[in-house]
Amino acid sequence: MIRLFVNIDHVATVREARKTLEPDPLQAALLAEKAGAHGITAHLREDRRHIQDDDIKRLREGVTTPFNLEMASVDEMVQIALNIRPDQVSLVPEKRQEITTEGGLNILEQERHLSEVGKQIKQKGILFSLFIDPDPAQVTASKRVGADSIEFNTGAYSESANSEEAKELLARLSQAAKLAHGSGLRVFAGHGLTNDSVQAVAAIPEIEELNIGHHIVSRSIFVGMEESVKEMLISIKKGVGLRP
Ligand code: PXP
Repeated sequence: MIRLFVNIDHVATVREARKTLEPDPLQAALLAEKAGAHGITAHLREDRRHIQDDDIKRLREGVTTPFNLEMASVDEMVQIALNIRPDQVSLVPEKRQEITTEGGLNILEQERHLSEVGKQIKQKGILFSLFIDPDPAQVTASKRVGADSIEFNTGAYSESANSEEAKELLARLSQAAKLAHGSGLRVFAGHGLTNDSVQAVAAIPEIEELNIGHHIVSRSIFVGMEESVKEMLISIKKGVGLRP
């Protein structure tokens, strides 16, 4: 079985629409865990548009599954991660104007910086993960900077215009997953995945963890958080069943 990490950012998005106390991302995380999620992910953005610093503290204390903190590789966030000590740190590129993370990190243009950040994170016993596009050059650079794992950006696949394009992007993902796994990196994936699109990704044998948020939170409005997580777990299981 692949591990499902549920990203609860958009529970906080609804709360921040009114700057009140509800809905509470920790309560959503606890329900996701109850439904079988293997971990919880939250992205503390520099502009604090959804998750707030206090959420990160409460999640760290409240969740019982591994806690994955997504963040930009800037000093402020690195200090927060070193204090809070999540189980995983996933470094992502961040632009203030973007609606969501738009692409993977370009490791090649910041190898020295990422090596330094990675060293500090790993020294605290935190898993050091990098969000990259399924590109062989980014995979080998991730290995050079000392990453424990890489998370492949499935955004392009999720948005593919037709089945031909989806097939091609899946083939690229599968090849990059083989390369990463072969070089000793743990292989994760996520972004834009739905109950349907997740299946072909889960069918790639090297992938051991998925980070999924928007679709699960969206479905939870209609069916509840526990049911929404359960639906996703069933879809993932179907995908794993398709593995060669
Ligand atoms: N992985 C990373 C690195 C992300 O930035 C996000 C979005 O915060 C996700 C996974 C989850 O994407 P989605 O919310 O589209 O499922």
